[in-house]
Amino acid sequence: ASGLNSAIVAAGKLYFGTATETFTLEDVEYATQVSNTADFGQLSPANSMKWQSVQPTQDTFTFDGGDAIADLAEANGQLLRCHTLVWYNQLPTWVSGGGFDNATLIEVMTNHITATVTQWKGKCYAWDVVNEAISDNGDGSFRSNVFLDTIGEAYIPIAFAAAAAADPDAKLYYNDYSIESDSPKATAALNIVKLVQSYGVKIDGIGLQAHFIVGSTPSTEAQVANMEAFAALGVEVGITELDIRTDTPVTASAQTQQAADYASTIDACMQVDACVGITLWDWTDKYSWVPGTFSGEGSALPWDEDLQKKEDVYDAMIAAI
Ligand code: XIL
Repeated sequence: ASGLNSAIVAAGKLYFGTATETFTLEDVEYATQVSNTADFGQLSPANSMKWQSVQPTQDTFTFDGGDAIADLAEANGQLLRCHTLVWYNQLPTWVSGGGFDNATLIEVMTNHITATVTQWKGKCYAWDVVNEAISDNGDGSFRSNVFLDTIGEAYIPIAFAAAAAADPDAKLYYNDYSIESDSPKATAALNIVKLVQSYGVKIDGIGLQAHFIVGSTPSTEAQVANMEAFAALGVEVGITELDIRTDTPVTASAQTQQAADYASTIDACMQVDACVGITLWDWTDKYSWVPGTFSGEGSALPWDEDLQKKEDVYDAMIAAI
């Protein structure tokens, strides 16, 4: 039987995958399905490689959660996308409120990157080195956070250089949302690629998170043009956190539109050589982050809360590959 991953690999892409988390693996039926490589050839840890999880207090590293996901991927023969090194969110207060000066924060940041990347050296297809560095104020400016405010924009190339030194074989990505079609924010992401390159530091890819909304997902054409703009700078792209949410309870017509939105997004990746793969931000509504973050919204994934396929959505996804 053909699944999302087997079909996309047969069509020349590297993977179709999903985010997952350690506690959900205790759900036996969930664990069985997440290990089904016909559908999922790649895993991303939803939380367990984040700064708060890895180094909750200074110089105390806990790699157990990330190890569990890395081990599962290895046992299943799945690729691993490692997520994420430098982000303003899920960042412990010893960093965000630590009052470090420029030189000390650079040392703290590079130390975190070196230790974390070294832990999973050789296991990560890619690292999301910097996450969500662009603000949502519409002008494409950098997001104010402790790294920008203390180090300046150089924190971005410094982070990429540290990651490259620790694992030269991992693809190094910048990852963000609302950069999936042309906008000031997408232009700012293009400028991040140029910024890192201008420092003589390597950047390999752009992660298009793709947290979309049913009925306002960017068109295939808009997504293709955007991916090509990144490819023209010499980087690959991945759709890294795909989900398409709607008001709950979901209506039949919303689910029909959702099937079309999943299909148009997959179609865009299929049309662009530089798009290497697609990752769902978990695969079942049972463990989706959406209802906890966007009040009144959910039903964002191709499997429902009972781990059952939404057949119409799934079939449209397969057909788009
Ligand atoms: C989310 C996780 O899925 C949640 O469990 C957590 O509470 C918050 O973070 N962009 C990202 C991801 O890059 O790391 C976020 O993941 C979703 C938005």
